[in-house]
Amino acid sequence: MFIRHQSYGDGKPGLPATVIVGGFFGDEGKGKIAAYLALEDKPAICVRGGNGPNAGHTVLYKRVQYSLRLIPSGFVNQSSRLLIGPGVAVDPGILLDEIQRTSTKDRIGVDYQTAIIEERHKEQECNSEHLSVKIGSTKKGVGAANAERALRMVKLARQVPMLQPYLVDSVGEVQESLASGERVHVEGTQGTFLSLYHGTYPFVTSKDTTASQACADVGVGPTQVDDVMVIFKSYVTRVGQGPLEGQLDRDEVLRKGWMEYGTVTGRERRAAPFDFHLAKRAVQLNGATQIALTKLDVLYPAIKGATSRESLTSEARDFVTRIERETGVRVTLIGTGPGNEDIIDLRQVKAGSQGRAKPALISKQS
Ligand code: IMP
Ligand code: MG
Repeated sequence: MFIRHQSYGDGKPGLPATVIVGGFFGDEGKGKIAAYLALEDKPAICVRGGNGPNAGHTVLYKRVQYSLRLIPSGFVNQSSRLLIGPGVAVDPGILLDEIQRTSTKDRIGVDYQTAIIEERHKEQECNSEHLSVKIGSTKKGVGAANAERALRMVKLARQVPMLQPYLVDSVGEVQESLASGERVHVEGTQGTFLSLYHGTYPFVTSKDTTASQACADVGVGPTQVDDVMVIFKSYVTRVGQGPLEGQLDRDEVLRKGWMEYGTVTGRERRAAPFDFHLAKRAVQLNGATQIALTKLDVLYPAIKGATSRESLTSEARDFVTRIERETGVRVTLIGTGPGNEDIIDLRQVKAGSQGRAKPALISKQS
């Protein structure tokens, strides 16, 4: 579904960038949603913003599960160009391995200015009690590399011989696509409340994680964004240290079937019920125009595999309606299972003639 953004009155086409970000503490299911959106909307470019390989995104496509840490999750759409923006921190070994596993060497580009994680960054984090014990860092060297970047001492991708075949001006490519009216998907990482600025400091990651940061990471300006899709899981999980309102004890988490393990570290995730207050704040911080709600089948097993709103139970429907009422933004995608096809897509139904769901479109009664 791509309805071109109306022109700005000067005859130029609109600039249809969509930003995809996490609304809680990461692991909301961005991988699944980004992959689904890429297959449906066939963007010319899927560009990875966000932080580094501390992120883990899971994509289940054609019965194969991919755990990705650097490649955009939209790689499943074969026609999309894949880019890694200059704001990202890349570990070359991890990247090359992923390129191979996903067979994407002919369509991936890494920006010349992407920061490079080196062995010493990982060692620094492993040796830091503050990071590894107090914060619960994933210790992938991302924070150390970002710190060095702030000191203007980090190595950039253009200085790394093994990355030469992939180096591009990713920002130039993105801007060219936008200027010719092509669709671009910007993928963020982690979640809103792991943001260095807006999260539960100091229990946060090493940079901002909101939609604005994802745009800055890939060189897209605020007026060039058409849609911001914020992803919420139907319950909240958190890995590593830091507050989690309403946290359930471990037995309760297991009983509810909410136990999950970190994609990157294998650590158990803590869990709590959906947090409407945080969701509202995330919608504000990201300027969300749409919400994707994942794992609704974990809360309501009867709806597993549903692909239409009609097949939701009334309880499930009430939950979705409450999220819309409390955040003021439409839930346009609903995940009902792990597979790429387990989704209810309401974008057309709820968007009206504009092709998008604006926060302003929702009324208090709906
Ligand atoms: P770091 O960014 O690896 O230093 O980790 C800082 C905090 O953010 C820790 O609590 C991590 O568990 C958490 N974190 C970092 N990346 C992710 C992610 O992709 N998903 C979930 N939590 C993350
Ligand atoms: Mg993850």
